[in-house]
Amino acid sequence: MIQIRNLGVNYGNEIALENINLDISGNKTCAIIGPSGCGKTTLLYAMAGLIAPSSGKVLINGEELRSPRKETGVILQNGGLLPWKTAWDNVALGLKARGIDKTTISRKVTSILEELGILEHRDKYPNQLSGGQRQRVAIARTLVLEPDLLLMDEASSALDAINREHIQNLILKLYMKNPTTMVMVTHSIEEAVFLGQTIVIMERAAIKHMIENPYFGDEDIRSKPEYYNICLEVRKWLGNELSKEGAGK
Ligand SMILES: Nc1ncnc2c1ncn2[C@@H]1O[C@H](COP(=O)(O)OP(=O)(O)O)[C@@H](O)[C@H]1O
Ligand SMILES: [Mg+2]
Repeated sequence: MIQIRNLGVNYGNEIALENINLDISGNKTCAIIGPSGCGKTTLLYAMAGLIAPSSGKVLINGEELRSPRKETGVILQNGGLLPWKTAWDNVALGLKARGIDKTTISRKVTSILEELGILEHRDKYPNQLSGGQRQRVAIARTLVLEPDLLLMDEASSALDAINREHIQNLILKLYMKNPTTMVMVTHSIEEAVFLGQTIVIMERAAIKHMIENPYFGDEDIRSKPEYYNICLEVRKWLGNELSKEGAGK
C-alpha cells in the first residue's frame, strides 16, 4: 500500500527527514513513535501528499504521490473541526463537498455518529463538546468518507488518560470491524503498542528501529504482562529520547 523510498524533507536549511525507507502493507496498522521534533508529523504529511519531498518519493498502491488523494483520510493533531459548525455539519461537510445527495448524507452521518456514540451531541458546536467528544467528531468526519488509508497525528494526545484509552479502544474496534491501512503518529509508548501492528521508532529525522507486534488486536492486552514487555522494548529503543525537553508524556 505505502512504499517510502529514500524520502528526505527539508524546511529551508533544516533537515526534517533524511533517507526514510518504509513499507506499510495494505490493511495493516503502523504506529510511529519518537520524541517531539523528530519528524513524525512531517512524515505523516508526506504520506498524505500535503508536503512535497525534497528528495525520494512516496508511492501509494504503486503510484507516486504528488498531491493529496481523496481516498486518504487525515486526522490532524488538533482535530481541525470548524468551530462555527455543529458536530453534524462538521461530519456532513466532506460528503456535501462530494455532491452526495441529502438522503445518503443523512443516513451516513447518523450511522457514523451512532457508531461513535455521539449522535446525541449532533447539534452541539465544538466548544460545547468535551475533548473526547470532539475527537470522536473528528474521527467521524474522516471515517464517513470511507478512506482506504487513514493517517492520524496524535489522535488522543490532547485527552486525559481515561479518554485516551477510550479513543484507542474505539480506533481498535473500528479497525477490527473494517480493516483499512492505518498509520498513527504518537509519542505515547502505550498507544503505539496498543494500536500498532508494526511500531516504527524514530530519532531525529530518521527511523531508528522497527518492531513487529504479535499482540496487536487483543483488546485486553493492557492487562497482560506481554504488553509491558513490548512497551519496555520500545522504551529501550527510545533510550532517553522521550524524557528530553518538550517530549512530555
Ligand atoms: N513548517 C515548518 N517550517 C519549518 N520547520 C518546520 C516546519 N514544520 C516542522 N518543522 C521542523 O521540522 C522538525 C520536525 O517537525 P515535526 O515533523 O513537526 O516533528 P514531530 O511531529 O515529530 O514533533 C522540527 O525541528 C520542526 O521544528
Ligand atoms: Mg507532530
